[in-house]
Amino acid sequence: MIGEMAEILEPGILKGVASSTINKLVRAGFTTIEAVAVTPAREIAEVAVMGKDTALKVCRLARMHVDPGFIPALEVLAMRMNMIKCTTGSNELDRILGGGVETGAITELIGEFGSGKTQICFTLSATAQLPIEEGGLGGNVCAIDTEGTFMPERIKQIAEQKGMDPDKVLERILVARAYNSEHQYILISSLPEICNKNGIKLVIVDSMIGHFRGEYIGRGNLAERQQKLGRCLSKLLRVAEAFNLAVVLTNQVLATPDTVYGDPNKPTGGHVMAHACTHRVFLRKGRQNTRLARVIDSPSLPEERIRFAITAAGIEDVEE
Ligand code: GTP
Ligand code: MG
Repeated sequence: MIGEMAEILEPGILKGVASSTINKLVRAGFTTIEAVAVTPAREIAEVAVMGKDTALKVCRLARMHVDPGFIPALEVLAMRMNMIKCTTGSNELDRILGGGVETGAITELIGEFGSGKTQICFTLSATAQLPIEEGGLGGNVCAIDTEGTFMPERIKQIAEQKGMDPDKVLERILVARAYNSEHQYILISSLPEICNKNGIKLVIVDSMIGHFRGEYIGRGNLAERQQKLGRCLSKLLRVAEAFNLAVVLTNQVLATPDTVYGDPNKPTGGHVMAHACTHRVFLRKGRQNTRLARVIDSPSLPEERIRFAITAAGIEDVEE
């Protein structure tokens, strides 16, 4: 299923499910099989107003349809070969990412304020639209902005510098402002349908954690916060896999003053965030417009620190 368009949910497509049930799902906004597959049964029962058992059955069938479970390793290889990588604009940053930001996975940009997270997202919003031969993903972009920092003027400038038609580039980016964590969850839940309809190849959430940190304060609320964050992340991962698209999230750091060894700045979001994200890129401010980047905890990439620059064209290599 990876790399193919999502299948429209219509009567008869899920064996043994009544047409009336399918119609209920479609009316509730579940227009593709993927949308059902990535939603918990509990939520389906609630939103589409149906019995828990029916929801569970529909959900299980949809998941089997999208993801049959065990598959031959040869198919895994085929999926990996379908994977494409998007250039960040910096060859050095691409190199430590193993060629760029990859599809079918979540890439997390971690760093303090001004470290370049949003600038990387802006640059990717343009480069993702380039044809695959030119280092892009040949698709459209969907951005969830939680902090009100989405700046179309800046993306326009980046596109111009790259010789792309700036208005066309902006036309191919769908943006939504998330006003709180609940709204963010709703937007993330709507991604299967949005991505299916709009040929999305890059999903950005800038920032992933901001609202969660702001709303769930104190130890007593931590478990609930982490559970909700985890639900958002698993939906994002399913979307990345089902549509073979790239997901890029930003995350801030928290100073841990009692650190004896290593960097005292730790990514927020704890284990839930660490486990969900396939690639974690740690960013730091360098001299002038330069920034330092390091890929941390990667199963396949060596840990190496590189420098890149923030310029009019977005992200670029540092000129020596
Ligand atoms: P927070 O969202 O606050 O956590 O920070 P961030 O990591 O998202 O920082 P961001 O990506 O917004 O980086 C901001 C920095 O990018 C600024 O301090 C500038 O140095 C640089 N920058 C922003 N816009 C431009 C621009 O148009 N031209 C150039 N050359 N640099 C820019
Ligand atoms: Mg930012």
